[in-house]
This record gives sequence, C-alpha cells and structure tokens, in this order.
Amino acid sequence: MPISLNNLPQPDPVALQISEKLSQHIRTEIAQSGPIDFARYMEMTLYTPGLGYYSAGAQKFGEAGDFITAPEISPLFGQCIAKQIADVLDHLEGGDILEFGAGSGRLAVDILTALSKSNSLPNHYYILEVSASLKARQQALIAQQLPEFAERVVWLDKLPENFSGVILANEVLDAMPVHKFRQGDSGILERFVSCQDKFAETFDQASDEVIQAVDELGIQLAAGYTSEINMLLPAWMNSLASCLKQGVVLLIDYGFVRREYYHPDRHMGTLTCHYRHHSHDDVFLYPGLQDITAHVDFTAVAQAALAANLQVSGFATQAHFLMSCGLMTMTDDLSKDVQASYQTAQEIKKLVLPSEMGELFKVMALSKNFDHPLIGFSLHDMREKL
Ligand SMILES: C[S@@+](CC[C@H](N)C(=O)[O-])C[C@H]1O[C@@H](n2cnc3c(N)ncnc32)[C@H](O)[C@@H]1O
Repeated sequence: MPISLNNLPQPDPVALQISEKLSQHIRTEIAQSGPIDFARYMEMTLYTPGLGYYSAGAQKFGEAGDFITAPEISPLFGQCIAKQIADVLDHLEGGDILEFGAGSGRLAVDILTALSKSNSLPNHYYILEVSASLKARQQALIAQQLPEFAERVVWLDKLPENFSGVILANEVLDAMPVHKFRQGDSGILERFVSCQDKFAETFDQASDEVIQAVDELGIQLAAGYTSEINMLLPAWMNSLASCLKQGVVLLIDYGFVRREYYHPDRHMGTLTCHYRHHSHDDVFLYPGLQDITAHVDFTAVAQAALAANLQVSGFATQAHFLMSCGLMTMTDDLSKDVQASYQTAQEIKKLVLPSEMGELFKVMALSKNFDHPLIGFSLHDMREKL
C-alpha cells in the first residue's frame, strides 16, 4: 500500500534526480522486455551501478541514514564476534577473515581492533563488497582508524580460492533480491512489475522455477497467502562452499525457521522498505533512495548449506550468541565511568533484548573441515528447531 509522503522527510533534489534516472532505467527495461519479476526490480533498485540504493552515495546506515545495524550500535558486537573468530583461528593455527557486504566498514574496524589486542590478527581481512560507493567508504574508514592494518585489509572482486579461516556476513542475506509469490485458487502466482505512467504490480502465472521452489518449501498455504523466497541462496551457498577449504561461516540476520517464516499469521510476507527510519511496504517509493529487504528463512539457509556439503555447526539467537561470546564480561573496564556505563547499558539492551534485536536476529554457523565446538553456541544451540 502506498505510504503517505506527508509523513516522510523529502529527499534532496540531487537524490531525487538519481531516483528519477534509476526509474527511467527500469522503465526502459520493462518497455523492452515486458513486466519484470520482483527479484529483478529489487536487484535494479538496490544494485544498479551508480544509481541503486547500495551503489549510489546515500548515507544508509546510522541516525542520518535509513536504518541501524548492530555494528553501528556498539563496538561490543564486533568484540564478541572477534572472540569467536579468535577461537577458530587458534584451532586452525592461523588463517584469514572474509567479510561479505561490509557496510560502513565499522565491523571490520571493531573486529581488527579486538583481534589485535588479543594477538590473534588474521593474515588478511578480505572484504567482498558489491557496492563501489560502500567500498570507498570502507577504505576511508580503515585508512583513518586503522592505518597500521591498511595492508592487511584487501578488497576482492571475486571469492578467493582455498580459503582457510572465517567468512562473515552481517545483514547481507536480507539484502538479496527475492521473488514474491502468492497462492492462487489454482496454483502459484508471481509478482511482476509493470509500468504505464507509474510502476504497478501484477500477480501472474509464476515461472516454473518459482513454482518448483515454493513446492519444495513443503508448506500448506491458504489461498491468498503472499510471501517471498530467496532463489539466489543455493548458488550463493555453492560458491561459498567451493571457496572454503577449512573453517567457519558466520551468518547473522533477522529471520525465522521455516515454519515460523511461512506461519499462517504472516500471510503478507516479510518484505519491508526502510526510508529514513520509517518502515513500510511501498516498494515503489523513491526507487533507489530506500532499502528493500526480506527476512531470512534459516531453514532454507541450512538446507542450501547441507546441499553444498557444508555442516551446520550452530544456530542461536543474537542474544544467546553474544552472551556465549562473553558480552557481559566485556564491560568491566567501563564500570567506573557512570556516563559510559549508562551508554554501554543502552547499547547492550539494543543488541540483546527480545523486543529489540535479541530474538529476531539469529546467528548461524556453517563449517567445513572444522570440528571444534564453537564458543558462540555454548549457552544455547537451537539447531533442532530448523
Ligand atoms: C544491510 S547492509 C549491511 C552492511 C553491514 N554488513 C552492516 O552490518 O552494517 C547490506 C550489505 O550487503 C552488501 N551486499 C549485498 N549483496 C551482496 C553480495 N552478494 N555480495 C557482497 N555484498 C553484498 C551491500 O552492498 C551492503 O554492504
């Protein structure tokens, strides 16, 4: 449903121009090839070089952006992940880190700072980032905050071979384009985007691939039930598995196990747009100036991992993972400074309270040729729920 523009901050004229250029680009593709499936629309609005939400220069993260991710909330998040990474690198007797979609670069800075303090630096901290503008932002932050590690941080254009170490992706899966589907009276329909004067959505006969993928979910859906499915996951997982020689993959994101994801109550799906801290479902608002995301079906992630010959080595809420990594012991040195303690307490609340990120966000660990228990799942592991 369109959101009322009156309640939203206006983009500046330059941003509006970029959005109009992107819209024209999408209109041209629709004019040439007919209505496009929703995943293609989402891909174009997020990743069209120079124009898409992640590719152009919008602020995105933090108070002045559209949403806040855990690394932007507190360095404690990165410090906890660093504990888990240090343990894995210790068992591997060294190795590298590879971060997918490193955002502002904040998590890389926090992890490297913590690993430096514990004398467990990786050989390299690789970053694979599809957005040229974010890559430039990450490079500037690392150069400013960690000049001594500048040579260790390497931006890649493709996955490395024979990788040994830890692969990390925080809020990357939710940014992958998804297909939208609806259970019709006599089969699966798919959402397409067309354009006359304005963009519009239509539900039409789904492609064979979407019909098969929805069928394989193994879920009974009532007529009218609408949701989404990430069809890129199996290929992405295969590429991870083939680059990983030994080590662990940590995937952190908001989402559910399948029976909660496709729960009858969630009959409109999870697709959400984020614009200047307003969440809504109008995917046609300011194309390229707002984020579009979908929650993650962690059962699908686990299935794709197993099919790619990876092991599922842990699954926990973010709260349990961070506490297993020692979150509550990392604040001791702040206890004398009242203001800093208050600030830290607020950050911890955001990271772990069930009403904030604590329960909705999950951490899944996958592994290959690595059999040691992972400290992040020592307090709680809910793999049996997958
Ligand atoms: C929601 S942001 C999260 C950024 C950061 N990880 C954080 O937590 O602040 C999503 C990030 O994933 C990147 N991204 C999306 N798909 C990707 C892919 N297939 N490979 C690498 N990066 C990707 C985007 O460019 C962006 O940096």
